[in-house]
Amino acid sequence: MRIQVNARNRGYEFEARPDERVLHAGLRAGIALPYECATGTCGTCKATLVGGTVADGWAGAPGKKLVKPERREFLMCQCAASADLTLEVDKFVHAAEAGACTPDSCSVVLRAPRQIAPDVMAFSVQLEQPRDFDAGQFVLLAPLAMTGYRAYSMCNFERGARRLDFVVKRKPDGGFSEWLFGANREGERLSMFGPLGSATFDPMLAKNVLCIAGGSGIAGMMSILARAWRERYFERWRGWVFFGVRTMRDTFFLDELSSFQREFPERVQITVALSDEDVPASAARDWPALGFERGLVHEVTERVMTGKYHDVRAYVAGPPPCVDAAIRVLLLKAKLTTNNIRYDKYS
Ligand SMILES: Cc1cc2nc3c(=O)[nH]c(=O)nc-3n(C[C@H](O)[C@H](O)[C@H](O)COP(=O)(O)OP(=O)(O)OC[C@H]3O[C@@H](n4cnc5c(N)ncnc54)[C@H](O)[C@@H]3O)c2cc1C
Ligand code: FES
Repeated sequence: MRIQVNARNRGYEFEARPDERVLHAGLRAGIALPYECATGTCGTCKATLVGGTVADGWAGAPGKKLVKPERREFLMCQCAASADLTLEVDKFVHAAEAGACTPDSCSVVLRAPRQIAPDVMAFSVQLEQPRDFDAGQFVLLAPLAMTGYRAYSMCNFERGARRLDFVVKRKPDGGFSEWLFGANREGERLSMFGPLGSATFDPMLAKNVLCIAGGSGIAGMMSILARAWRERYFERWRGWVFFGVRTMRDTFFLDELSSFQREFPERVQITVALSDEDVPASAARDWPALGFERGLVHEVTERVMTGKYHDVRAYVAGPPPCVDAAIRVLLLKAKLTTNNIRYDKYS
């Protein structure tokens, strides 16, 4: 199917495979169509149909509250072309940056699922062909028997990766997370599309780095830290990580975070924020490289970071209320500009 996109600045034409989402076809062709969640919740990928018809993959997508069907608007991340299409996107659309990792679809195999906290499962996917991705990116995953993709951020970083690592927080009645927690999924096949996302870190950034994560939002931060560690980034720049969880029982990755901190003790500061309990005396004894504070992660960030925002790029990820609260602190208290705040809302 041929798709013509008329954006505010110029037009593009690309091919879509049968049943392929319009967004996926465009991104695969190297056109940076607008999106944020890529999974039907945020409405960022809204477009207007001028000619042709689309098949809607998810009639109940929450992002549709921002779409007016009477104006033939639709979500590019959920709809596939049923015929050749002409559509309008009310935004500036540019070609993907030179050297950007172009997303594509493939089939992957789930490996080594293991529970690492009461509500958190870690697993890897094995790729047949090596893939590049940027630190902080995510992919879409769907078990073969499930409708709809879910977005998950990579925890590792590697060029030409043959394995991607993830953590998933259990969501009561959630399709993917209950599937993962419900049985041993070793060896299951999933379809994958990616890599995606612009909350990415590159060592060329040349700025201090602030990471604020709520729960499984730490996933992308681990990838950013892994990349920074490889490049010895913190020999020149400072890093702060704030990891918010409810209680000590909900923590994970503390060994890995301790290793990052010990490598650059003068320049990297990692703080675990406990929202629902006082910091137990055992925390400092068991994890001497890490700091522990009582409070919501955005409150703890605000307390610890006051006066330290010079030349900072901030990364934020986690549940939407946590991300929104952190962004408010970064804009209103830290006075960071929007281009220095990168975020993923785990909606
Ligand atoms: C950029 C990004 C990165 C993320 N990274 C992580 C991460 O690293 N770890 C983590 O735990 N969570 C992450 N999430 C959240 C994750 O994508 C899921 O929303 C969460 O795991 C709950 O999924 P579920 O299937 O258990 O719940 P469900 O409530 O069943 O589904 C949640 C989401 O799946 C999609 N969905 C559900 N039903 C359909 C359908 N019929 N058709 C199409 N789509 C459907 C929708 O996007 C919905 O919001 C991320 C989210 C985003 C947007
Ligand atoms: S990108 Fe399509 S709804 Fe978020």
